[in-house]
Amino acid sequence: MRKPQGLDGGLTNYGDRDFSRYLRRSFARSMGLSQELLGKPVIGIAVSGSGFNNCHRTMDELTAAVSRGVLSGGGLPAPFPTISLGEVFLHPTSMMFRNLMSMDVEEMIRAQPMDAVVLIGGCDKTVPAQLMGAASAGKPAIQLVTGPMMTGRYRGERLGACTDCRRFWAKYRAGEVSETEVSEVEGNLAVTAGTCAVMGTASSMACITEALGMSLPGTAAIPAVHSARMVAAEETGKAAVRLTQQPITPDEVITEQSAENALRVLLALGGSTNAIIHLTAIAGRLGIPLSLARLNEISDETPVLVDLKPVGEGYMEDFYAAGGVGAVLQELRPLLHLDCMGVDGHTLRERLDGPKSWVDRKVIHRFSEPISSSGGIVSLSGSLAPRGAILKRAAATPSLFETEGRAVVFENVDDMAKRIDDPNLEVLPNDILVLKNAGPLAAGMPEAGYLPIPGKLARAGIKDMIRISDARMSGTAYGTIILHVAPEAAAGGPLAIVRSGDRIALSVAEKRVDLLVPEEEQKRRFASWSPPPQPDRGYAALYRRSVLQAPEGCDFDFLVKQTAEFD
Ligand code: FES
Repeated sequence: MRKPQGLDGGLTNYGDRDFSRYLRRSFARSMGLSQELLGKPVIGIAVSGSGFNNCHRTMDELTAAVSRGVLSGGGLPAPFPTISLGEVFLHPTSMMFRNLMSMDVEEMIRAQPMDAVVLIGGCDKTVPAQLMGAASAGKPAIQLVTGPMMTGRYRGERLGACTDCRRFWAKYRAGEVSETEVSEVEGNLAVTAGTCAVMGTASSMACITEALGMSLPGTAAIPAVHSARMVAAEETGKAAVRLTQQPITPDEVITEQSAENALRVLLALGGSTNAIIHLTAIAGRLGIPLSLARLNEISDETPVLVDLKPVGEGYMEDFYAAGGVGAVLQELRPLLHLDCMGVDGHTLRERLDGPKSWVDRKVIHRFSEPISSSGGIVSLSGSLAPRGAILKRAAATPSLFETEGRAVVFENVDDMAKRIDDPNLEVLPNDILVLKNAGPLAAGMPEAGYLPIPGKLARAGIKDMIRISDARMSGTAYGTIILHVAPEAAAGGPLAIVRSGDRIALSVAEKRVDLLVPEEEQKRRFASWSPPPQPDRGYAALYRRSVLQAPEGCDFDFLVKQTAEFD
């Protein structure tokens, strides 16, 4: 068992260890801490509050509550700042900075003298970044999420970010609601602190973090403003101190088995497609491959059980009241690896053998009475996506699943923004919209995969069309949308040479998406294709040089743990 080293851990290198220790202690005393506290195990608290991150508005309160827990458990709390990523405040896309935040978290955990760390995050990219960093740093770590927002009200209707943002925006584009109405809605979509109120990416990540065992049982879904959220923070602080006495490191919690459990929970939730990328990246930090083939196997045998937006009806506050992740795990029990260890020191079997809580079956269905018998997400392959693509079938229109159609191509996000509402755009309801050059290399992989229905079709009442891209989409979005096409266009994938008028075939039954262009013609087009130019300085250059494709979680090549299977 590793002994906590407290402030004596990882000494600054002056060539004289005793001097380093002496200097550190004298400077630590300038913070006004007693000798007694300075001798305790140190619990770092990775704090990611920011004036650019509404989802982390309660960070100060949470940090105080974690600190209380650490003190009462017999440790010394040491909050430290890291980068924060507020989803809607970052250009060109928060995804581009997830790896940067993960590096910040990893290096600060490693460089500073802490025996364990509490990671406080919530907004989409922050939790994956923190888990990736902590997995690589290797010290005992425990995640606390900020928790979801409560819903707002508009003319008697409940509203939550951000599925309802999209729903009302689509109605506005179709001319069904006025500008006044849409701006009234704007004031009622995100009404409390916390992360998006539906089963979007942040909520999906919170739930799969609990399923992985990296956060305390029962904490994923507690609303941000609920008093129980602060109690969870305090308990998390205490648990972190216990982790210094009985160390459990992330590699003991995040294993191939626990990653599969997390994937099953994601599928049963009808959760976000982004979570596939993030889970792959987190597992990749420990050399655990998550293949799209395995995703399909698991998806075929895992039912959708949870009735939340964007796939169903409810919001995260309903999910919490209905029983949360624990109730989902109970239903999935026959399919789970029960020996997986959590940061609380208990196996999943021990958790599920404990007392059962009441479950609201309107929100969390029984395994025997699922919402749908197969998982919410499926991977596709075929000549348009030789290394795979993702479809959230739970949020798609089944009548479009077996289709052949004509491609209407947009070269990049700007091209799409310019032409999508052009009354002269040649597009019919059964065409397939294709967006290129929005993958990780080309654009940092923005959430541009939710291509709007072209204005003239939206106004004619068209609600869904097949849309294909190398981009991602928000976890709060819905539609028949094929994402994460790999290799992306900028990496020379077949998407690069698709032209308007080409035929594309989709078969969800066969899990295929094919470009029906003869190979000879494809070769001819590739002969005149060249990759987009590369940025030459700063983080953008590092990013472009190092980012991997979606099937590798879009991590940097030098951060993934290399194993035989990854090589
Ligand atoms: Fe932060 Fe949705 S914007 S979770």
